[in-house]
Amino acid sequence: MKIDTNLIQKFLNVTSLAAISSYKHIGKKDKIAADKSAVDVMRDEINKLPIDGEIVIGEGELDKAPMLYIGERLGNRNGPRLDIAVDPVEGTNFVANNMPGGLSVLAIAESKNLFKAPETYMDKIATGPDIPKGAIDLDYPVEKNIKIISEITGKQTSDITACILDRPRHQRIINELNKLKVNIKLISDGDVSGALLVSDKKYNVDIFLGIGGGPEGVLAASALDSLSCNFQGRFLFHSKNEINRARKMGIKDLSKKYDLNEIVKGESVFFATGITDGDLVNGVKNKNNMYITETLVTHKNNSNKIVKNQTPST
Ligand code: FBP
Repeated sequence: MKIDTNLIQKFLNVTSLAAISSYKHIGKKDKIAADKSAVDVMRDEINKLPIDGEIVIGEGELDKAPMLYIGERLGNRNGPRLDIAVDPVEGTNFVANNMPGGLSVLAIAESKNLFKAPETYMDKIATGPDIPKGAIDLDYPVEKNIKIISEITGKQTSDITACILDRPRHQRIINELNKLKVNIKLISDGDVSGALLVSDKKYNVDIFLGIGGGPEGVLAASALDSLSCNFQGRFLFHSKNEINRARKMGIKDLSKKYDLNEIVKGESVFFATGITDGDLVNGVKNKNNMYITETLVTHKNNSNKIVKNQTPST
């Protein structure tokens, strides 16, 4: 199946409208409200579309989240069966505190082609298009991966940059990177964006690594696939409850390391609209009674681009 360009435009409007709804909460210190308004808009807008969609990455599971939960069916059922992954606000702290990097994110693929992932953490690693597939590995020590990147790119380790979430759980990795004199780009939140910084030399990030959300890992994988990058992830389960949920979703081997092509299959399209300004796209602007949004759209075997949208604000 080819995902129709009309449908792509319609989904682009979904993240764009979700971003606009969350824009109204920028700097209001209420991340729940910022998220909820984007969730509500996303759900209403997807429901208008001519698709038979199923949420595979969502805002939780039915008993925890009333909307956009994993397994929820969306769309008017009059169109193709699609898997839908959503993160209506990626970086809720960014939006609540008026900081750069808040995004509204969504990915679609043909039914059964996006990984249906529970809400757990994931250990992740990503590199850019200049690193051949299979060269680096989630299970290699940090030093080995950095040395491989150094050999392939011809850069000294002190010229390599690694992006990682600023969390105490990453202290060991950060110490190892420091020993190798690698430049570290610490991010306070937003590891979908963090992972995508490996995709283009202009961001000057050679490797993204560390533990973040599993849903964010699947979303980033969709874009990284279209951008010819590398990604591996392993879900981490911390409670019996998480393990039971994962088993219910069909995950048999709980410690499996997933390659990109096991997380995203076939054709997928990824959309990320800026809420606040960020590395990837600018945030929502309100000018002359128009909301202007910027959306990064990546589409495997097709163009990857940033699209500007205008929506009347009155
Ligand atoms: P939210 O937008 O849901 O707040 O997530 C932000 C985020 O930084 C993600 O980008 C990342 O994957 C996750 O939180 C990391 O989780 P934690 O803050 O628990 O380390």
